[in-house]
Amino acid sequence: MKNTVAVGIQWGDEGKGKIVDLLAPQADIVARFQGGPNAGHTLVIGNEKTVLHLVPSGILHEGTLCLIGNGTVVAPETIVEEMDTLLAAGIPVGERLRISDRCQLILPYHRALDAAREVAKGKGRIGTTGRGIGPAYEDKTARRGIRLIDLVCDDLDRKIEENLAWTNFQLTEYFHVEPVGRESIDAVIELARARLLPLMADVSQILFDRHKAGDVILFEGAQGTMLDVDFGTYPFVTSSNTVAGAAMAGLGVGPGMVQSVLGICKAYTTRVGAGPFPTELYNADGMDDPSGKHLAEKGHEFGATTGRPRRTGWFDAVVVRHAVRVAGVTELAITKLDVLDGLPEVKLCVAYEKDGQRLESIPADARMLESCTPVYETLPGWSDSTFGATSVAQLPQAARTLLKRIEEVCECPISMLSTGPDRDHIIHF
Ligand code: GDP
Ligand code: IMO
Ligand code: MG
Repeated sequence: MKNTVAVGIQWGDEGKGKIVDLLAPQADIVARFQGGPNAGHTLVIGNEKTVLHLVPSGILHEGTLCLIGNGTVVAPETIVEEMDTLLAAGIPVGERLRISDRCQLILPYHRALDAAREVAKGKGRIGTTGRGIGPAYEDKTARRGIRLIDLVCDDLDRKIEENLAWTNFQLTEYFHVEPVGRESIDAVIELARARLLPLMADVSQILFDRHKAGDVILFEGAQGTMLDVDFGTYPFVTSSNTVAGAAMAGLGVGPGMVQSVLGICKAYTTRVGAGPFPTELYNADGMDDPSGKHLAEKGHEFGATTGRPRRTGWFDAVVVRHAVRVAGVTELAITKLDVLDGLPEVKLCVAYEKDGQRLESIPADARMLESCTPVYETLPGWSDSTFGATSVAQLPQAARTLLKRIEEVCECPISMLSTGPDRDHIIHF
């Protein structure tokens, strides 16, 4: 396998965990480069389901080194809980995982601020995962964040005091909610010292050395292009860059290390949280198109991190074309084809329409996107099951026609097709 960046190219939850897990045996290293415990990546092997938030999706494989890069924001309690679950399942996570010394830590006051802001925004809320992601990235760019390496530095106490004073000022004076106590921070710091410091490493150096030695590297993205802080539906986005380019800065490596970019997307579209979604058919707020309901129910569309129901809609080729460009996607992995089984017809959004004008690309303004209507192509559906198919020959002609059309309208070849949640439910092209 080539050194590959695997990224989501819709609004997250495209099946990155599944694809990364199944590619991992061909890689020596799996490296996460952005996001934090807002991610929920699901791996299904037989009857065993594992949901990972921070630990890279290569962790189940012996001989695969998993790295967490400086571009991520790490909540010590979450990663320790994940490590303990893996340890209990017999995975020697301590041997397989290393965390960058430059990682930013998410502390309890970040979550308190995230929650207070969402409540204050009311109807205009972003619908964050509540994991403190935005406030942690803000502290990073404001140059006051606490990094893993700070746990072994003398002035940690002063930094915490300053951050806590500033956050509590906002919480009490502006949001009129309870302040965060120092004890809760100290408990997390203690946990991080005990459990994360032994895994701390210079991740950039490891990658540099291992690349020189010929190792194959798989870069694992979180979220998706439409949640990217620059290229997504701003401000209804996450607080990091999710495009493939973020892998470089989020791990401390050069672009020459990347040989291919795998864009992962569902054969339809989902979104969890607020913000524009042009092809939306179904949501918990009253949109109840029967095809959208079919996608939500058959696709079990509930968030892997928050359990919230996901909004569903048709495949949006405008979104995927945008991602192919801004994330530099060289090949597509289409997931959840099986969820389309049984639909009488399937629609592809190939462009948008706004005030009688045809739009071929995503406008920068979320309000403008909100007022776009999709231009659809309608293709025949199929009644046969594609669930678990492992060869193209097992696919109905209508499914093959759809895939060919996706390649044409997205201007990108499909290299993998997922037909079920299990690691083995896959077709390689
Ligand atoms: P990620 O965040 O991109 O890793 O995706 P999530 O794990 O949040 O959500 C994807 C969901 O779809 C998980 O429950 C997967 O087990 C499931 N899944 C992945 N690929 C397929 C597929 O091809 N078919 C079906 N039916 N489920 C899939
Ligand atoms: P994975 O890696 C789907 C969404 C949230 C919200 C917005 C901002 O599993 O694909 P945040 O907590 O990041 O400040 O929330 O981003 N979001 C995701 N949606 N999958 C994810 O991750 C997500 N991570 C964040 O729902 O709309
Ligand atoms: Mg997910």
